[in-house]
Amino acid sequence: MVRSPAGVITNQWKCPKQAPEKHLVHPTSCEFDDYLPVGGAVAYALILVDVKVDLRDAQVRDLSDVAYATGAGMRVRVATHHEAGQCDIVMITAGSRYGFGKETFQTKKKKNQPGLCSFVKQIIGETSIQHMHRNASAIRNVVKAMTPFRSDAIVLVVSNPVDLLTSIAQELAGLPKFQVFGSGTFLESVRIRGLLAEKAGVAASSIQLFVLGVHGDGQVVAWSSATINGIPLDKVLSPDTSGHQELAKECKERAETIFTTKGATPFGTGSVVASICASILFDKREVRPVSHFQPEFDCCFSLPVVLGRKGIMKTIEMPLGSDENAAIARSAHRLKSTIELTDK
Ligand code: LAC
Repeated sequence: MVRSPAGVITNQWKCPKQAPEKHLVHPTSCEFDDYLPVGGAVAYALILVDVKVDLRDAQVRDLSDVAYATGAGMRVRVATHHEAGQCDIVMITAGSRYGFGKETFQTKKKKNQPGLCSFVKQIIGETSIQHMHRNASAIRNVVKAMTPFRSDAIVLVVSNPVDLLTSIAQELAGLPKFQVFGSGTFLESVRIRGLLAEKAGVAASSIQLFVLGVHGDGQVVAWSSATINGIPLDKVLSPDTSGHQELAKECKERAETIFTTKGATPFGTGSVVASICASILFDKREVRPVSHFQPEFDCCFSLPVVLGRKGIMKTIEMPLGSDENAAIARSAHRLKSTIELTDK
């Protein structure tokens, strides 16, 4: 996606047997009181790259209708992987379709594998590690096909398991680490703010609360730093530990409840990804929990950063409770062991 006459919004790599899920940045607003320019588009051009050309062409036509309807003046077209690598923002949604398939849980629970996210649908009989290998090879193929990237390109990984795939993309992209990151726990952070807002009777945009760590099962709600308009949460609302646990559980299970019915969460994912793109393209310097390299753990997961035109402008040291830090470290160690498994 770029503001010049060519760009990429997504990348698809053919996965055997299952059509890839495609997350596209729809020009929508989102709860983090983002401002999107008139017409809703955050870019002047969208280009789509996909080995499934029929699906790609249908997406181009459908997205063109959105551009026509919003008067965004945005051009949508097909492109090559090389063109993709020359864009301002390269968004990668390559990978097989996600779903909370029952076989996923059975496989994971039966084999007790250190899976990252329990919501990657697998081919029947495939183990969760085999499935991750498949998604890992998909992103390796996509990134290699786009190199060498434009030197100031931003690579945004959306595919799941996002932290594992972001770690792989960082290794292969040949770009500075601050230019390669993943959507991480931004969507969960939007979810938990919305859930708390409904419970507290305040606007979600007045709540500062982050979900951090590894996306999916490994997520950690940073209640200790939660505020309402800068006032510590427990000064505004009576301390409600059990209520917080219920909200955290509902947030963690939210993706599953949507997946099992509609098989994907494109609107939620698309809105937070649009917000990330707006922060980058308009150099908005917003604080977002995105998946990025953590030297202490030698892998990627989400902590708050400042996003701008150069990507991650700086990291934000957030004071967390000892229990929160311990939970993040546990999920990071599980992530690292899974990365090592898929490296083989
Ligand atoms: C979700 C999946 C897409 O959280 O990661 O909705």
